[in-house]
Amino acid sequence: MLPVIDQTQPPGDPWPLRHLALRTPRLTLRPDDDEGLYALAAVAVRGIHPPEQMPFAHPWTDQAPGDLVRGVLQYNWARRAELSPSAWKINFLVRHGGVVIGVQELSGQDFAVTRQVSTGSWLGMEHQGRGLGTEMRAAVLLLAFDHLGATTARSAAWSDNPASLRLSEKLGYRPDGTATFARRGAAATEIRLLLAAEQFIRPEWTLEVHGLDGCRETLGAV
Ligand SMILES: CC(C)(COP(=O)(O)OP(=O)(O)OC[C@H]1O[C@@H](n2cnc3c(N)ncnc32)[C@H](O)[C@@H]1OP(=O)(O)O)[C@@H](O)C(=O)NCCC(=O)NCCS
Repeated sequence: MLPVIDQTQPPGDPWPLRHLALRTPRLTLRPDDDEGLYALAAVAVRGIHPPEQMPFAHPWTDQAPGDLVRGVLQYNWARRAELSPSAWKINFLVRHGGVVIGVQELSGQDFAVTRQVSTGSWLGMEHQGRGLGTEMRAAVLLLAFDHLGATTARSAAWSDNPASLRLSEKLGYRPDGTATFARRGAAATEIRLLLAAEQFIRPEWTLEVHGLDGCRETLGAV
């Protein structure tokens, strides 16, 4: 027997994230779309870090350019495919002057219960060192604390990543222990970072948020 579909009730938007947009003084952050992902992959191919450094937990930037492009696409598609109210990761494409310059991730695990988010990010090398990394992280923290009702935020960086550690420190994160992992075959120390909402060192600007209401159910943030 065929399923009965009630055509008098239009279904809700199956992907409300396409309407979400965050605006800071210099940046626009929107959940990834395919065209933007190709632009993001091109930024990655141009370079995110000097070859002798490895800022990421998984050394995905060590791949040949063709594999790197496909890897950026597939990584982000996988996050979209897995997204649910109990486990979500939004990859916000970060645009400056309309051009993709990097990505700011924001994720939640059982967010309705934990009220905790985690972040990760990168910028193309040519865009680093101008405060943009701080601005994009502050944007998703404002979203999380002021609009989604998060109470804590987590992040982490290798002990030899001073830019990332300093960025977190500027926003009020505090060290929350260490962990040792193999990185390119050698032991490396990860510094875990924790930010409680009341410790957040807020930017002086106000975040513009568009299209969030339709996303609340998808994120377990009603
Ligand atoms: C980490 C990253 C997102 C930061 O973005 P950014 O725009 O470069 O950072 P900002 O300019 O906002 O802030 C960086 C801070 O670190 C400081 N910093 C940078 N390099 C430093 C160094 N070698 N030693 C000490 N401090 C350093 C900057 O001076 C700045 O602090 P300040 O404002 O007090 O002067 C970016 O550099 C990046 O994408 N790096 C490669 C990928 C990466 O490391 N991702 C994070 C993985 S955990």
